[in-house]
Amino acid sequence: MSKLKVLGMQQEVVMVEKPKETKQETSTKSEPQSIDTLPGVGAATAEKLREAGFDTLMSLAVASPAELVEVCAIGESVAKRIINVARSKLDMGFETGIDLLKRRQEVIRLSTGSKAFDAMIGGGFETGAISEAYGEFGSSKSQIAHVLAVRTQLPVEQGGSNGSVIFIDGESTFRPERIKQIAESLKIDPIETLKNIAVARAFNSDHQMLIAEKTEDLIKQKMASDRPVRLIVVDSLTSHFRADFVGRGQLADRQQKLNKHMHTLMKLASQYNLCVYVTNQVMAKPDTFFGDPTAAIGGHIVGHNSQTRIYLRKGKKGTRVGKLVDSPYLADAECIFRITDAGLEDVEE
Ligand SMILES: Nc1ncnc2c1ncn2[C@@H]1O[C@H](COP(=O)(O)OP(=O)(O)OP(=O)(O)O)[C@@H](O)[C@H]1O
Ligand SMILES: [Mg+2]
Repeated sequence: MSKLKVLGMQQEVVMVEKPKETKQETSTKSEPQSIDTLPGVGAATAEKLREAGFDTLMSLAVASPAELVEVCAIGESVAKRIINVARSKLDMGFETGIDLLKRRQEVIRLSTGSKAFDAMIGGGFETGAISEAYGEFGSSKSQIAHVLAVRTQLPVEQGGSNGSVIFIDGESTFRPERIKQIAESLKIDPIETLKNIAVARAFNSDHQMLIAEKTEDLIKQKMASDRPVRLIVVDSLTSHFRADFVGRGQLADRQQKLNKHMHTLMKLASQYNLCVYVTNQVMAKPDTFFGDPTAAIGGHIVGHNSQTRIYLRKGKKGTRVGKLVDSPYLADAECIFRITDAGLEDVEE
């Protein structure tokens, strides 16, 4: 607890009563195999790999040589050899389709309150995965974060998960007043709602990474309560990284750190079946002549680590437009919605 305070967690603690058996324990598989067991990988390389988030044989087995070259500054032939050795050593742990289907059935979908938005993303924001919203200022990235922070707390029948929330605030955008307003519109107790959101301000990129790592303690503690953590918001995922690593020379460093940060978040998402919602800014792409001249910050590192990517922009008459990009199993689609006191609302055609 005291550790979290040092990190600046202004958390409200929900008393953990009569700890029950943690359901989640069952989904925690056997310890992942360490990369130190790989023949031919020296201590220095192992350390570099670990720093970049490649800390298990599985993470290496599924990596591409280019990725390792980029984040670990090693030669391509070395990268290929490491990947091949990791693949040969790894028990690929086949699961049957039924196992996977069962795991998919544990996924909870968090509703945004807009039918059109929910439909676009297959019924709501998924637990067990990272969802990324990117777009220009005012496009509603932070508004969606606030809406989810409240709606996650609703019962499952109402599109929530009976969960609690961790909000990692990298831009000082968290507004308790807005949470209160949304809760009141949904006719739920605003004070209780605020109590179920643990907010941590991140002061720089290293601090943000540390907070993400330390959230596991809080998640474990809440797992045993009747309000397990079902949502982690990171708003914004990239702004500190962008400010801390300026210029081309630091790009590789920045991508390496971002990759590590996202691996931490991904692990939490899948291990504890919670939804990670991250926001991301866009930058101008001056060489674009057709289509939208903007691109998400963080490039392919952020893109590949997010299972669902949504591009947000301002629409006509104060509306917002969401576009699903690169979903693994849903068609690219668009939706129109409006931001109101209650959160997100559908736009009548
Ligand atoms: N209660 C409300 N009712 C209607 N609109 C609101 C309400 N609260 C905020 N908004 C609108 O939401 C928009 C801000 O969106 P948001 O802060 O989510 O943008 P963002 O994408 O996070 O931008 P940035 O990149 O600057 O962080 C503003 O246009 C504001 O008018
Ligand atoms: Mg914002």
